[in-house]
Amino acid sequence: MTNELSQLEPTNIPKHVAFIMDGNGRWAKNQGQHRLFGHAAGVESVKEIIKTAREVGVQYLTMYAFSTENWNRPADEVAGLMDLLVQAIANETDEMHKNGVRLLTIGDISALPTSCIDSLNNAIAKTKDNNSLTLILALNYSARWEITNACKILAERVK
Ligand code: FPP
Repeated sequence: MTNELSQLEPTNIPKHVAFIMDGNGRWAKNQGQHRLFGHAAGVESVKEIIKTAREVGVQYLTMYAFSTENWNRPADEVAGLMDLLVQAIANETDEMHKNGVRLLTIGDISALPTSCIDSLNNAIAKTKDNNSLTLILALNYSARWEITNACKILAERVK
């Protein structure tokens, strides 16, 4: 653990931290690079965040990665993002599993390409019993989806 992290007050560590992924494209543009270069760097940042969250004892991390509005981006950017997601899951699932990370998603993943759905579901199944950190990827998310989903869960509980 780095010096700064070891100075954190253990009783003040939040249980759940959520990130809205933003600025990848602008960051890449400032480097004179394509937007997808920024998204790839975003995945590296997510890996660093997971590592640090585990070190300091955060139990839940939510990454708001792809909203329903993001479908309106150019087709090559959307396709590139979906490829990055599949690649990230393929490259990182074993490491996450070894480190006790459980993967979950929120949002309507049924609208994602089949390759994404399959790799997400495999990673979710593989990591389901892990309990060091829960990583929640928000994909094809919207406020409407969250409210509808909460109502469905409440209705199930009442039933
Ligand atoms: C925000 O930057 C980022 C996104 C909309 C997409 C982030 C998703 C990924 C990198 C896919 C893989 C994700 C994970 C968690 C494995 P922006 O494009 O809105 O940047 P801008 O505001 O500068 O345009």
